[in-house]
Amino acid sequence: MNARPSTANPPARPVPKPLPPEFPGAARYGDEELEAVTRVVRNRSPFRYYGPRFGGEVEAFEREFARLISGVPGHPGPGNATIHATAVNSGTGALELALDALGVGEGDEVLVQGFLWISSISAIVRNRAIPVLVDSDDTLNLDPDQIRRRVGPRTKVIMPVPMLGGCARIGEILETVRGLNEERAREGLPMIRVLEDCAQSMGAHARGTPGSVAPTAPEGVHRVGTFGDIGIYSLQINKNITAGEGGVLVTRDPALARRIEALHNAGYARDQSTPVNWYGDDPVGWGHGRRLGELQGALARVQLRRLDDILASMRASHARIARHLSDLGLRTRATADASDPGDTGYYCQFHLPDRGDDASRIALGRAVASALSDFGLRPWFLHDFEVHVYYNIRPLVERWPLNGGGPWPASPRAIDPRHEYHRGTLPTLDHWLATTVGINIPSVLSAEDEAYIRDALAWVAATVIRD
Ligand SMILES: Cc1ncc(COP(=O)(O)O)c(C=O)c1O
Repeated sequence: MNARPSTANPPARPVPKPLPPEFPGAARYGDEELEAVTRVVRNRSPFRYYGPRFGGEVEAFEREFARLISGVPGHPGPGNATIHATAVNSGTGALELALDALGVGEGDEVLVQGFLWISSISAIVRNRAIPVLVDSDDTLNLDPDQIRRRVGPRTKVIMPVPMLGGCARIGEILETVRGLNEERAREGLPMIRVLEDCAQSMGAHARGTPGSVAPTAPEGVHRVGTFGDIGIYSLQINKNITAGEGGVLVTRDPALARRIEALHNAGYARDQSTPVNWYGDDPVGWGHGRRLGELQGALARVQLRRLDDILASMRASHARIARHLSDLGLRTRATADASDPGDTGYYCQFHLPDRGDDASRIALGRAVASALSDFGLRPWFLHDFEVHVYYNIRPLVERWPLNGGGPWPASPRAIDPRHEYHRGTLPTLDHWLATTVGINIPSVLSAEDEAYIRDALAWVAATVIRD
């Protein structure tokens, strides 16, 4: 156990040194990725449904992803068809498609947390629905106890967004939603569905009973994204594995899976097609252009095989750095479930002492982030974390209309108070954001890198945070 460095006698200032890149999947690109891409090029078949020497990479990725994501810790997936995966060309597209598949449209409301990424909001607005913000608990994710206060008759979907690899209390969220849906069934109101935006947390585990209306799998530890009606993931470069761009949707519901597959492919599911009737004759609605290409499918297959190793490295480094922060007297973000393996470890967030007024809290957060940045620790003071924070999203705060108007009424007098988005709307989250700083945990840290990070944190704790 380290002695807590004292302010009067701070440790020596470490000499800044470069750290490995923060892109967990891309950091491990190697010969296998090269071979995968070359295979597709040699086959001259970069399209997901056919080609001169068609390789079926995207389809194989979907099967392999479904298998991995349905697995429980220590065991590979059961390999049955309980989970269906559809690969698409971005996480943002996956969200738009998921809400469409769940029937979200004009006048509907989607409940979502305020710590997210702008796409979690834009996907709602693009479907002509209205975002309703729900406050967060100490996991910094959607607080199950706040859901009932924000639900209305037009609520269609609840969207938890497990941020930076840290899970929400998803088991309690699902319990609350099932309770609400029992009441709504009696009142003749539409069922509330759950869409998990797991773009930042692919592979994380959490505890709970999946199913928004009735349980769809036993109580236990499951991978996030498999609790709700649909889960989405991203393959963009900052994510746990990457194909540069890409996304995945998963669901346990075969009818919904078919609808997703059709919607991502111009509205027509491929199982209807014949050699002379490529698009079949059974459209499910107005489709999207969301197919993933074979080059990215082939890359994603290799990366998927690396996912659990990447998670193991990040989790181990995160645990050691979090222990050090605790020795320094700094509390790290609460985890939803202390049982292993839990969160992904992608980011280590810690809370600053809660001193003074709002302005002095913000000044401290900025000073700490700036000092950590001088050491190359890639910190974010969460209040300043760009469009991950609801009140930093100008089009939301100002309720910018879509072409042709909506989803909010044009007259400010007609605005429902639940459709406010300025800072102050979510007091608990606002407080966490103003008192929390995080640093990235690369998946390839050496023992020396970790020692350097610990020294830098100790120096900043003694000289900038102080008592
Ligand atoms: C929480 C969240 N949702 C959605 C997305 C969108 O994913 P993509 O960048 O693949 O469109 C991101 C990624 O940046 C994200 O962090």
